[in-house]
Amino acid sequence: MGIDRSYQTGFGNSFATEAIPGTLPVGRNSPQRVAHGLYAEQLSCTAFTAPRGHNRRSWLYRIRPAAVHGAFARWAQPQFHNRFDEQPVSPEQLRWSPLPMPQAPVDFIEGLYTMAGNGSPAALGGVGVHMYAANRDMAGRYFYNADAELLIVPQAGRLHLATELGALSVEPQQIAVIPRGVRFAVALPDGQARGYVCENFGALLQLPELGPIGANGLANARDFETPHAAYEDVEGEFELIAKFQGHLWRAPIDHSPLDVVAWHGNAAPYRYDLRRFNTIGSISFDHPDPSIFTVLSSASDTPGVANLDFVIFPPRWLVAQDTFRPPWFHRNVASEFMGLVHGAYDAKAEGFAPGGASLHNCMSGHGPDAATFERASQADLSRPDVITDTMAFMFETRAVLCPSAQALAAAHRQRDYPQCWAGLGKRFSPPA
Ligand SMILES: [Fe+2]
Repeated sequence: MGIDRSYQTGFGNSFATEAIPGTLPVGRNSPQRVAHGLYAEQLSCTAFTAPRGHNRRSWLYRIRPAAVHGAFARWAQPQFHNRFDEQPVSPEQLRWSPLPMPQAPVDFIEGLYTMAGNGSPAALGGVGVHMYAANRDMAGRYFYNADAELLIVPQAGRLHLATELGALSVEPQQIAVIPRGVRFAVALPDGQARGYVCENFGALLQLPELGPIGANGLANARDFETPHAAYEDVEGEFELIAKFQGHLWRAPIDHSPLDVVAWHGNAAPYRYDLRRFNTIGSISFDHPDPSIFTVLSSASDTPGVANLDFVIFPPRWLVAQDTFRPPWFHRNVASEFMGLVHGAYDAKAEGFAPGGASLHNCMSGHGPDAATFERASQADLSRPDVITDTMAFMFETRAVLCPSAQALAAAHRQRDYPQCWAGLGKRFSPPA
């Protein structure tokens, strides 16, 4: 895995890239006439006056402005929504088997399936948690999400994400982040694909602070990759699907909106390979809080309390002494949606499959299943354990995640999931 020179590296950098040399104006953003007859357009993903360290905007030099398209009308994809108040939320622990692959032809947008969520696009806070299962390319269909920054976590099959700002290829164990508003189309090089999507309605995802860890570690900024400019100059009968205030809208468009010849700025899509995460943990005793595994975080207005933390559980060594090495039993004020990209998760002996999901909401008790507890309680701690071939993740949110009615009713929901703790019987034996 050397440097892939088809990408620009760094997190949140001010990039400059042109598919045709000499396109970017020098020393200004909006000259009277842009090179090659292009239009200049600013894409702002934060408020104009956001502090410099948080400000994200890019200047796009494009064949037609984004304003050029037909009229929007409602478009139905009833499995993809932001209705997070469909029923009272049960505190029950929930788990699902993998979302079945579609039988009929389904593209990435048609294949999105809402699992849970909180907050709303209108409130500029919260998340939507979705899965996707798709088996055809978005041929002639383009999409943008005005409601959210999109965090895409592939589990099976590669995705080719052609965006306004260039193309990203991601495979399982990589992630992609597409800024609010950026138009894109998804192709499936492997013919089908499945994975997870988090809509972040809140503050943009940032790298977490490192505190006493120091200047390096966890997800290193240099490992984030942003595409170079690439454009399509094609005309035809296409459609533009917009997600706007929780609903989907469709407009005809007679050209590809992926027509940006050059751009500069720091609002741009990026990808990251989770296998590059520098995992840090205990080398003495106890299992640290999972915040040590945070890849990206969306801040709330309360310091230290995230709208969304994206956390992974990658391969790692477990060496702690006199310690129960798997994740402990716990209850959190935060709510946790977990998925498994690859392999097995060390806190569950069975039932949590790649492509599956679980949801443990605020103060709902959870932790290792009975079989894992038994094994880890008896394990020989004189040797280190190495966990290989695994990549689990968590979307952790400060607000309760309300499961969708379809997810609760789904045939692939494991209704017996809470039974995984039933074998944790009374072990108490007080001294006589
Ligand atoms: Fe948990």
